[in-house]
Amino acid sequence: MKILMAAPECVPLAKTGGLGDVVGALAPALSRLGNEVAVVLPAYQNILEKFPLEQTGIELEVELGGRRVAGTVLKTAGDGGAPVYLIRRDEYFRRPELYGTPRGDYPDNAERFAFFSKAVLQLAERTGPWEAIHCHDWQSALIPVLQKIGGNTAAARGAKIILTIHNLAHQGTFPFSDWELLDLDARYFTPKYLEFYGQVNVLKGGILFADALTTVSRKYAREILTPEYGCGLEGVLGGREKDLHGILNGVDYREWNPASDPLIKKQYSASDLRGKAECKSDIQQLYGLPLKASAPLLGIVSRLAAQKGLDIFLEIIEDLLRMDLQIVILGSGEEKYQKLVAKLPAGHVEKIGVKIGFDNALAHKIEAGADMFLMPSRFEPCGLNQIYSLKYGTAPVVRATGGLDDTIEDYDPLAGTGNGFKFVDYTGPAFLGAIKRALSVYVNKKAWKQVIANGMKSDFSWEKSAKEYLELYRRVAGAPVK
Ligand code: ADP
Ligand code: GLC
Repeated sequence: MKILMAAPECVPLAKTGGLGDVVGALAPALSRLGNEVAVVLPAYQNILEKFPLEQTGIELEVELGGRRVAGTVLKTAGDGGAPVYLIRRDEYFRRPELYGTPRGDYPDNAERFAFFSKAVLQLAERTGPWEAIHCHDWQSALIPVLQKIGGNTAAARGAKIILTIHNLAHQGTFPFSDWELLDLDARYFTPKYLEFYGQVNVLKGGILFADALTTVSRKYAREILTPEYGCGLEGVLGGREKDLHGILNGVDYREWNPASDPLIKKQYSASDLRGKAECKSDIQQLYGLPLKASAPLLGIVSRLAAQKGLDIFLEIIEDLLRMDLQIVILGSGEEKYQKLVAKLPAGHVEKIGVKIGFDNALAHKIEAGADMFLMPSRFEPCGLNQIYSLKYGTAPVVRATGGLDDTIEDYDPLAGTGNGFKFVDYTGPAFLGAIKRALSVYVNKKAWKQVIANGMKSDFSWEKSAKEYLELYRRVAGAPVK
């Protein structure tokens, strides 16, 4: 099939979270399955500065709020035969961050991503025909809206549009003053369409107009139909339930595998874990913690946002610091959480180390060096770090929500089954209870080996998920399903 992937992130070019990992691995996985795949991204500053780019000669001009706004298209090789087109307009995308700073979003995000979406459709017309356009999150959710009700995009009409919701909490809601940027008929600014409590809701539009919807785990696909997880869109999603599919994210084991990871101190595998001990002392050293092999080391790598369960972590931190363990944290995100987390080591430097920032190499080192990985998320559409942890022999302690619940099986000491530790209620005591359970297994070397072995043998490689996407594209496009 001919598949165009329109996304706001794609590793190694641009990443703030798991969406970047997913697009960066799914595109080459689909091309390995014999499809013609290309990715389209905004030409962010980091990409312009660090990657080899070629001119395509394609110039675009889109209508944006009655104005004509121009852009150009660059291209870079991409991974595994899936080239990446880059929509360039420096006024919008040549900035230090993708969406905003720790203080908040860029104020012109509606304009930036309306431009991007319109440019993608125009690019699709020039480079197509494409059978499927696969969009990701609110930043590209206007594409199905514009294709269906935006007029003058005739050539891209042949393409079926699939929208993946990686995170329902980010909907792209903007004040009514941004409505004119979409150049849509006023009758679509009503509760039946894109209006949402007086605002423009871009994701809502995408949910209504995409040909098929997916989200990144089966459990989250069910959860978002409920008021607890639906973020106000549960009704709209309910109206499209039969077109909504849960497809679990995979892992790119070329990047996340302790046996070949060049970013960690010493490679290791399930059959020989000696390197893991070296990775542990490496991370203790990097964080200035005492080099104690026996102290359980708890790791966190996270966007610092309410979603990630930081409030219940902060609630139990005093209890944790009274125990014989060590904690390392790597995170960046909202200023409020950055400040709270940065303060934690004060008075406890022998127990806890914190680094605020985005550091891919350090994320790998923590996965390898820690004994346990904490993900107490309030909600988690899929979550990738717990799946990486499994491969690195680092037992995940997770809340049983979304993809965390689908990928982690609670350890059962009698049966010897399970690959981690789960808790259900979103409370400090429930989280603490799961950590204590993990610690009690940790001291039993044989049992701990079992937990780790169970995790390390699990296989979440992309091929299976890529095939599920392909089957969906075929079904939606009316092509024969193989
Ligand atoms: P989300 O997309 O909600 O942030 P995921 O678990 O799906 O959560 O993916 C997070 C990805 O981002 C992982 O690859 C993780 O290693 C990475 N990551 C998150 N925070 C940081 C950070 N501060 N530095 C480096 N990598 C990070
Ligand atoms: C989102 C979700 C995360 C998911 C990732 C990739 O950022 O928060 O759970 O793993 O997207 O799909």
